Amino acid sequence: MSDAIVAIDGPAGTGKSSVARGLARQLGARYLDTGAMYRIVTLAVLRAGVDPDDGEAVAEVAAAVEPTVGFDPDDSRSYLAGDDVSAEIRGDAVTKAVSAVSAVPAVRTKLVRLQRALADGPGSVVVEGRDIGTVVLTDADLKIFLTASAEERAKRRDDQNVANGLPGDFDAVLADVRRRDHLDSTRATSPLRAADDAVVVDSSDMTESEVVAHLVDLVQQRVTHQGAGVRNR
Ligand code: DC
Repeated sequence: MSDAIVAIDGPAGTGKSSVARGLARQLGARYLDTGAMYRIVTLAVLRAGVDPDDGEAVAEVAAAVEPTVGFDPDDSRSYLAGDDVSAEIRGDAVTKAVSAVSAVPAVRTKLVRLQRALADGPGSVVVEGRDIGTVVLTDADLKIFLTASAEERAKRRDDQNVANGLPGDFDAVLADVRRRDHLDSTRATSPLRAADDAVVVDSSDMTESEVVAHLVDLVQQRVTHQGAGVRNR
């Protein structure tokens, strides 16, 4: 199969990361986690003692940061100034602050430029995020918008909380999912939405491996048979 650029967008809780990694593995493609890049910048902001809501100060920190992420879907590590911060960027502090940091236009401009340069490397690549099909890689060979019902996403997160030893509270989690959906889809900079030419895949009633198999089919149809956007790099 020719090299392909695949964009995968969608809200949190759809299994997007696992699916994107699974697809990259099956295609022998590189995997780029753009959310990790926003998280690395957020960690730099917190380490600098800067208020995540102070856009100007955040932009200054971001200008000096070189976030580095790995491309291996089975071991994609994240680095800040040479430090392995893979675990720290998933912690509560970063998760709470990352929305504010990723809403700063200067942060987005910088990371979008970097993401385009990274996606333009050798071979196929699966790029995961929120605005990949709409902003970052508008000429991707295949754009997927992965969704699941608010109830299903809330259930998955509630189950995960319980598995992590936290008390379960489905109604509270559902309310939070709905609140974040509203914020994400109505924010001024890069609101979360499916690109007009994206294939919308609802994972509510599918297992992770069913979704991956479906996406492999879509890539093969799109890139091998139709020849549309085939890249021979
Ligand atoms: O996918 P994630 O939870 O690791 O993403 C972290 C945050 O970064 C989340 O608040 C959405 C934001 N993000 C974004 O604004 N644009 C992207 N392309 C990827 C993530």
